[in-house]
Amino acid sequence: MEEKTNKIAIIGSGYVGTTTAALLAHAGYKVVALDIDPKKVDTLNSGKSPFYEAGLDKLIAEGLAEGTLTATTSYEEAITDADVVISCVGTPDNPDGSSNLEYVFSAAKSANPHMEPNAVYVQKSTVPVGTGRRAMKLLPNNSYVSNPEFLREGTAVYDTLLYDRIVVGGSDNKSLDIVQELYKKIELNAEKISKICGGIGQNEIKNHSGQYIKTTLESAELIKVTSNAFLALKISFANSIAKLCDETNGDINDVMDAIGADKRIGRAFLNAGRGYGGGCFPKDVSGLISSAKKHGVDLPIMDAVTEINDSMPGYIIEKTERKIGSLDNKNVTVLGLAFKAGTSDSRKSRAILIANVLQKKGCNVSAYDPEANREAAKDLNTQVNICESIEAAVKNAEVVFVATEWPEFKKISDWLPKAKEIKTVVDCMNLLDENLIRSSGINYIGVGR
Ligand code: UDX
Repeated sequence: MEEKTNKIAIIGSGYVGTTTAALLAHAGYKVVALDIDPKKVDTLNSGKSPFYEAGLDKLIAEGLAEGTLTATTSYEEAITDADVVISCVGTPDNPDGSSNLEYVFSAAKSANPHMEPNAVYVQKSTVPVGTGRRAMKLLPNNSYVSNPEFLREGTAVYDTLLYDRIVVGGSDNKSLDIVQELYKKIELNAEKISKICGGIGQNEIKNHSGQYIKTTLESAELIKVTSNAFLALKISFANSIAKLCDETNGDINDVMDAIGADKRIGRAFLNAGRGYGGGCFPKDVSGLISSAKKHGVDLPIMDAVTEINDSMPGYIIEKTERKIGSLDNKNVTVLGLAFKAGTSDSRKSRAILIANVLQKKGCNVSAYDPEANREAAKDLNTQVNICESIEAAVKNAEVVFVATEWPEFKKISDWLPKAKEIKTVVDCMNLLDENLIRSSGINYIGVGR
């Protein structure tokens, strides 16, 4: 394996593409980020990330300053001379739940005329099994590697540096090695990178060990979607048992802590609450169901996962009304609009769903999120009053729904005294101090407790 990778082109400047580009630019490569959106390209070339993600701005600014990172809208400029081309374009869902592969194929088609003969084409976008074989036909002169991505929004840099596994799938072993080498270089430079972006301890880097896994193209594609499906399944399992806890006086947090202590099960992703949202789980679960169907396989287990997840916002509102009576015409506040804490992303956010259902019921709804107000405005009913601070949002509230796990909402002593009219707190993610709330004479309603 004599050839050395020098230049890398990354197609698509979303969470995955931008994080990968920023890290590779500090691992000894010349990286060109390519996006068809000139606004994203301008933002990157001005030294900033096109979206909020911890640590990324610093890595981008430094990469630009060192000349190892640039961005362009031109396929020719990005792909020419590149040894490795990594596709990180979006795969939104179609109205029928299947994955929309328009961008995956158009990226491969546009890259093809500029690909160098020995360049490797890497697919990082989340695609249904079988997509790689179709994409390969658009790149007849190059080898193709599936390299699924497991980073989470909000902790993208952390997850990439402290990975659990790097998966590469394909039939050309030399190309699999070339792709693995990129990550080994990131790992070699991890201490330097963590110093630039901050937020990750040097000991964590030193003590970290992850796995490198080589497999077939189809297995790699399946690993990505089924990993997310399994995590979604854990969440819906916890939510089903939460409903049983509500009927039997169990406490879901205690139950999940104890079953999660079994190493075979693990505690992660067993937090009950308003359910999962975001740009990945909902579309990956529906994409898996739909692609399995195309192969004649039913996945009723995943149908149930979706059904349970969809039921949670309504369930929480019904539980609240069972406990305190009708919410109609009441002043209610929803704290948190992002699909989870640590991000400005509010795609398929359950918090927005809760706010909209409450508004439709006839409540006067105020809402606040520290990062996602602007993005959430697109999907919130226009009657929802979006506020610029927690204080403004809770001012007249009789009932407060805490719907996203932002740390500032957990510090109830900071905002609860400012909600002078408040009678009830609904803890949609079971993260608040129940005793403190009750001791202030306020009703506490959790999920499964
Ligand atoms: C997910 C996967 O975790 C990541 O590996 C993959 O690459 C992309 O999809 P992400 O969508 O960024 O990442 O968010 P994640 O942290 O997984 O949370 C997804 C949703 O599940 C959020 O709405 C979160 O609040 C919810 N969740 C998570 C729960 O409701 N309970 C839990 O216990 C954990």
